Amino acid sequence: LDELQRASSPHLNGLLLPSSEPPTMNPVLEPLSWMLGTWLSDPPGAGTFPTLQPFQYLEEVHISHVGQPMLNFSFNAFHPDTKKPMHRECGFIRLQPDTNKVAFVSAQNTGLVEVEEGEVNGHELSIASHSIARISFAKEPHVEQITRKFRLNSEGKLEQTVSMATSTQPMTQHLHITYRKV
Ligand code: HEM
Repeated sequence: LDELQRASSPHLNGLLLPSSEPPTMNPVLEPLSWMLGTWLSDPPGAGTFPTLQPFQYLEEVHISHVGQPMLNFSFNAFHPDTKKPMHRECGFIRLQPDTNKVAFVSAQNTGLVEVEEGEVNGHELSIASHSIARISFAKEPHVEQITRKFRLNSEGKLEQTVSMATSTQPMTQHLHITYRKV
C-alpha cells in the first residue's frame, strides 16, 4: 500500500525513489531557465531533407535540473498517426559560468553521440556540432555536421530548428518544431 501511495504522489519525479521538494535552481542556469519544463509539439514537427519525403512527427520534451549548474533533457519523437516511438535523444546542457557560452551533450537512439557548442542570447540558443561519434555499423549517409537553434517565441512557445550536413548533402534543414508548455 505504501508503494502504491508513493506511486500516485504528486512529488514523484519519474525515478524509483520519490523526490523531496523541487531543488533550488543553480543561479548559473538563469540564462537558460526559459527552456525548463515539459513541452509537447503543437503543431506536429516538420521533417525535411533533399533526400527525404517531407514528414511530420510528434515530440515530447522534458527539460529539468536537479540543482546542478546544468539542464537535463530528453527529446522523444513519435509517429503522428501510429504514435510509434521514433527518434529519441537525451543529455545535458551546460553553461560556462559568467559567460553566455553553452555546451550541449546528447546521446541518440540511432547510435549517434554528439557535442554541440554555441551561445545563448536572450531567449535564443544557437549551437553547432563540435564533435560527433557514431556506432561502427551506422547506416549511410553519415551525419557530418549539425546545427540547432532553440528559441522562446513571443507566444511563450519553444521552437527547435535542426539542420545537418551529411556525407551526401550540404547543410540543410532537417527539422522544425514548435512546442507548447504542458
Ligand atoms: C533520416 C539524422 C532527428 C526523422 C535521417 C537521416 C539522417 C538523420 C542522417 C538520413 C538522411 C538521408 O538518407 O539522406 C538526424 C539527426 C537528428 C535527427 C542528426 C537529430 C539531431 C530526427 C527526428 C526525427 C527524425 C527528431 C523525428 C521523427 C527522420 C526520418 C528520416 C530521417 C523519418 C527518414 C527515414 C529514416 O531514414 O529513418 N535523419 N535525424 N530525425 N530522420 Fe532524422
